[in-house]
Amino acid sequence: MIIIGATSGIGAALARQAYSKGYIVGGTGRRIDRLKQLREDLGEDFYFREMDVVQQEKAIEQLHSLIEEMGGMDIIVINSGIANYPASSVTSMEQEIIDVNVSGFVRIFGEAFQYFRKQGHGHIVGVSSIAGLFGAARNAPYSASKAFISTYMQGYRNRCYHSKYDITITDVKPGFVESEMTEGKKGMFWVAATNKAVHQMLIDIEKKKKISYITRRWRFIAWLIKLAPNWLIERI
Ligand SMILES: NC(=O)c1ccc[n+]([C@@H]2O[C@H](COP(=O)([O-])OP(=O)(O)OC[C@H]3O[C@@H](n4cnc5c(N)ncnc54)[C@H](OP(=O)(O)O)[C@@H]3O)[C@@H](O)[C@H]2O)c1
Repeated sequence: MIIIGATSGIGAALARQAYSKGYIVGGTGRRIDRLKQLREDLGEDFYFREMDVVQQEKAIEQLHSLIEEMGGMDIIVINSGIANYPASSVTSMEQEIIDVNVSGFVRIFGEAFQYFRKQGHGHIVGVSSIAGLFGAARNAPYSASKAFISTYMQGYRNRCYHSKYDITITDVKPGFVESEMTEGKKGMFWVAATNKAVHQMLIDIEKKKKISYITRRWRFIAWLIKLAPNWLIERI
């Protein structure tokens, strides 16, 4: 299993849980010290590459060299994402979110898809968000980026169905989960412990679910959001 964005939060917890279940795990991220620490904590079946998904061509080279070192890839989890980014202007902050959450995602996804097509099978897991189900007043680019990747994955899942490709695509939609992304943020509820959310996520990956709500109770919120009238959505 290769995890793009394994240096903290959901990705790091997934690396640890998958490793302890016997997976050969590959992790990436920009913070190489965190990856080295994981290798030290886990062992030699944890492989890693420093990777910034914004530097797309380099990221693809690093992905292929990681696959080669691991002797293949059956599952890729594209977990990398940002919500807030320190930048001098709102516009550049929005661009950073699009660069990482949309452009970076699409480039890695496309490469993994081609790899699995040649291989004849594979499983792509993308981490979107409940925030992708509506336009969040406090973070429009973030929720739009997550809506994009959910619709994108749905389109590819439908393509696999029509083309009879043996490629599973799982859209993981977290609610609020403890991580560096949510640290110190106000206005959150039902904030799940990272390990609990990731435990459920791994079960759903193994079940090859199309959509995974972590934690499960967020399925109810998703359902409410889909039914809610516009006047109510405006007040969220
Ligand atoms: N926590 C929540 O409540 C929540 C809710 C809904 C969705 N999510 C989604 O869950 C995913 C994981 O987030 P998290 O909560 O675990 O936050 P986190 O602790 O901040 O983790 C984000 C991960 O993304 C990686 N990343 C960020 N920018 C990157 C870049 N340019 N290139 C490569 N990797 C990059 C980070 O690695 P480096 O910084 O080392 O590069 C890190 O491993 C994200 O996609 C997030 O949008 C989280």
